[in-house]
Amino acid sequence: MSRTLPDLTADPARDHKRAVLDAGAVRDAYRRWAGVYDAVFGGVSSFGRKRAVAAVNRLPGTRVLEVGVGTGLALPRYRRDKRVVGVDLSREMLEKARERVAAEGLTHVEGLVEMDAERMAFADGSFDVAVAMFTASVVPNARALFAEMSRVVRPGGQLLFVNHFAAQDGPRWWVERTMAPLSRVLGWHPDFALSDLLDGEAEVESLEACPPAGLFTLVQVRNARAVQALAA
Ligand SMILES: C[S@@+](CC[C@H](N)C(=O)[O-])C[C@H]1O[C@@H](n2cnc3c(N)ncnc32)[C@H](O)[C@@H]1O
Repeated sequence: MSRTLPDLTADPARDHKRAVLDAGAVRDAYRRWAGVYDAVFGGVSSFGRKRAVAAVNRLPGTRVLEVGVGTGLALPRYRRDKRVVGVDLSREMLEKARERVAAEGLTHVEGLVEMDAERMAFADGSFDVAVAMFTASVVPNARALFAEMSRVVRPGGQLLFVNHFAAQDGPRWWVERTMAPLSRVLGWHPDFALSDLLDGEAEVESLEACPPAGLFTLVQVRNARAVQALAA
């Protein structure tokens, strides 16, 4: 199911209380979640994760960056000709991912690196594709994440995101706004909107609602800004 693009020119600043999620709060939250993450979130998020990796597998190019790789739930799903590097802020989540790679013999995973996705050590254009699954609403600054993913992906490459984006009205909007001050405890922003991630210049190629009940959206963006920057 495709979706229409919401207004990306909206000011991401909120008129309600949103707790700041800094890198320390993210590390603390995912230190707590690491042991139970797969059991608590693995099921509900599996549809979106499957769709995102299937989309990555269809794209040209082999160099894939997964930001916020977490416990590595997506890693077994990549085609074996992809060369996958995962980064995450949380040592404990990465440890689970490393155990998975070893247990399942995932030789297409080239590296799992403790690194801040808002400031990555990779050279410009190092990857064909970058994908962030359920991570954009967790990072302290989603626009900085997008800019950094754009930098490390080659011009014309693809950026993919699967995430829950806040409702724009109705009961779900009310619940999400009410939960917003709990961000530091939860480890994500319940009121995260697409305009928190993308500005009006992003070249959105598709928006696809994912089960259950369209709760998550797969967003695919062409890395056009880097093309413009190189041409300038
Ligand atoms: C909700 S989990 C998603 C994990 C995985 N992508 C999945 O599909 O299950 C979010 C992950 O993003 C990581 N994260 C948050 N901010 C980050 C940052 N700035 N740089 C790297 N990883 C980050 C967290 O540590 C956590 O492992």
